[in-house]
Amino acid sequence: RPRVFSAMQPTADSLHLGNYLGALRQWVALQEDHDAIYSVVDLHALTVSPDPAVLRHRSRLTAAQYLAAGVDPARSLLFLQSHVAQHTQLAWILSCLTGFGEASRMTQFKDKAARQGSEGASVGLFTYPILMAADILLYDTALVPVGEDQRQHLELARDLAQRLNTRVGREVVTVPEASIVRATAKIYDLAEPTAKMSKSGHASGLIELLDDPKVIAKRIRSAVTDADTVIRFDREAKPGVSNLLTIHSALSGTSVADLEAEFAGKMYGHLKVAVADVVVETLAPLRERVTELMAAPDELDAILADGADRARTIAAGTLARVYDAVGLVPPA
Ligand code: TYM
Repeated sequence: RPRVFSAMQPTADSLHLGNYLGALRQWVALQEDHDAIYSVVDLHALTVSPDPAVLRHRSRLTAAQYLAAGVDPARSLLFLQSHVAQHTQLAWILSCLTGFGEASRMTQFKDKAARQGSEGASVGLFTYPILMAADILLYDTALVPVGEDQRQHLELARDLAQRLNTRVGREVVTVPEASIVRATAKIYDLAEPTAKMSKSGHASGLIELLDDPKVIAKRIRSAVTDADTVIRFDREAKPGVSNLLTIHSALSGTSVADLEAEFAGKMYGHLKVAVADVVVETLAPLRERVTELMAAPDELDAILADGADRARTIAAGTLARVYDAVGLVPPA
């Protein structure tokens, strides 16, 4: 069975609908016929200097959201990145294969560094995509289900895998492919529907998985649309309406064309009520399950410990292969 690997950063209490539709939902589907490994990348989250107690809480809470969404620890492996030391070890090897200019071209780095202002970005933020490549290459990953914003990072992971293989003259690591579902690859901010929905965007534009249903409904009701009145999918001319149609279609399973027909002649308000209903209906059980999981932290920690044990075994094998390939002497 082909290997799947993906991960999210525990940089907020709640994941948002972009994380869910762009990635998490695919993770759950892929575990049916793939050998799936999912991680909470807590080391990556250190690049934004979180409060230690907050980070610890969010790491568990993020894992709980994976489980609540349907990641099944009996079939898939679930672990915290910091529990498997090989991630940072492989990252060093890969950083020695990455050009300074190459790393400087990462657009997410440039955006995030610009936002950090006068204090300047950390070296960790700069080398972040290299650690991400290590996450992926450690598990001989074939497929990486992510949203559109990770495409460039995935390209870097592929380039590094190819470079390593070329350098040593044989296939030491698998070259991964991104798995990006077109319809939901980029979910937009409700308040600014030309920007992607993001933890660092407008609060009012965000649909958080753990939000109160009333807050969710209110945000969808206030979503920016346009001065026109026609409910039609047109990403350029009608970004707000198109985003709402995308969300509805992804969660209800009704095609966008059928939704356009269903809402022909109706007002934006009707569409918003319908979207709020499908979103709340999907998220209510998820939210309940997260509460249950967080009430039993020992069970959650046991799942993470088991996942880390199994991940470590795979990661140690890959790292030994890479260490050998680049010329490091194996310990006697
Ligand atoms: P992160 O934590 O920012 O986002 C997690 C996942 O959610 C997707 N996503 C979206 N998809 C659609 N619409 C949106 N508005 C939206 N916002 C976020 C992201 O594309 C991602 O799939 N660098 C990664 C974490 C990472 C990783 C990895 C991912 C570290 N190592 C290895 C894959 C494999 C990140 O910051 O994702």
